[in-house]
Amino acid sequence: MAVLNFPSGFLWGTAVSSHQVEGNNTNNNWYRWEQEGQTRELSALACDWWSGRWMEDLDRVQETGQNTLRFSVEWSRIQPKPDIWDEEALGKYREMAGEMVKRGIMPMLTLHHFTDPLWFFDMGGWENPSSPELFEKYTHKVVLALRDYVNYWITINEPNIYALSGSVTGDFPANSMGLKSAMLVLRNMCKAHAFAYRAIHEMQPEAHVGYALHYRPIKPARPWFFLDRIMAGIQYRGINMAFPSAIASGIMKTPIGNYKIPEAKNSQDFVGLNYYSVDTVKFDPIKPEQLFARRYYPKGSDLSENGFIANEPEGLLGSIQWAAETFPGVDILITENGVEDSSDSLRPRYLVEHVYSVWKAVNAGFPVKAYYHWSLTDNFEWERGWTQRFGLWHLDPLSQKRTKRHSASIYEKICKGNAIDKGLLKEYSRKPDVTCG
Ligand code: BGC
Repeated sequence: MAVLNFPSGFLWGTAVSSHQVEGNNTNNNWYRWEQEGQTRELSALACDWWSGRWMEDLDRVQETGQNTLRFSVEWSRIQPKPDIWDEEALGKYREMAGEMVKRGIMPMLTLHHFTDPLWFFDMGGWENPSSPELFEKYTHKVVLALRDYVNYWITINEPNIYALSGSVTGDFPANSMGLKSAMLVLRNMCKAHAFAYRAIHEMQPEAHVGYALHYRPIKPARPWFFLDRIMAGIQYRGINMAFPSAIASGIMKTPIGNYKIPEAKNSQDFVGLNYYSVDTVKFDPIKPEQLFARRYYPKGSDLSENGFIANEPEGLLGSIQWAAETFPGVDILITENGVEDSSDSLRPRYLVEHVYSVWKAVNAGFPVKAYYHWSLTDNFEWERGWTQRFGLWHLDPLSQKRTKRHSASIYEKICKGNAIDKGLLKEYSRKPDVTCG
């Protein structure tokens, strides 16, 4: 059977985050948000990593031939109070990273994935002007403890989603509401990222440091209609461009103004892209609260179970192209990509088609070096609780039983072969534009 090969050394992995997998994370703003009844369900034990199940999940990573895992450390565990550092927690993370290295799984570590320690959040969180320095201090501590094992660092996961889902839509905890607050949060996060970038390199000159951008291509519903085009442009820039503009030029461009953040310029060694789907935008005069626009998936889209994601693999190719044009010569890592699908009926197609897009990009000469599927097992999906299932393994949060989904076997084939064979494309993609056979 003919195969489409990837370059040797390509990184194949899955991504997880502390609050979504650890369980009993009681000292952060998400725990409180859950207790206040703001989420559909509670994280509770999550995937029970904190009591040790991370070890058996590493078996799953290994079993499927993945050579890397993206995970995160929980700031509220490491620094439970402003002046208290928990060496035991740090020791546990060291053990995890060390075990990964021992097994040939390269750890990629995220320092901040949506959760803030309560003390930090209650000081104003990312709206507090000293938040970048506080984050730098925390970064310092983590890097000293883990640099023996970790070479790839993600400072902040999806700052755009953190800020917009918090201060604009109210799905995530936030200190205050409104676009202005969201942009203040983004500015401080960007400074924090730049400080952390510099600090990590001071402690570990050879490290690779970046952040993970949730990149969302947006198209106008009626390309011939200028108001749709204008609205799509506003939404596109508002959602995507704050961090990239600051990193490209040292000036953060936002819908409410431009801000100088000179220290952010060139503060990334790779572009980390989290890609899930493409939105369509239509001018809508009855939606002034959403800036006269409606974001949606058009009729006939290949939709996920709860309509949360439309399967748009070409959007991943476009995203990679955008990254390469915006940051010429910089490596691109797909730090998240996946779909909610408890019955695993869409995921095989979604997975194969997206990996095929990555192959097309690599084949066209774009410097894509890694693909991380979201996620290894089902985990706590933020305000959506357990209603959305992104795992290659099904997980029952009560019994903690994991069951391998068919997609895990498909991914295993890809990871172990460092290739997609055309049989997979033929079986799982909607319109393979290669000659199969
Ligand atoms: C986040 C993950 C989340 C995933 C699916 C991404 O935006 O980084 O934490 O689980 O989307 O909702």
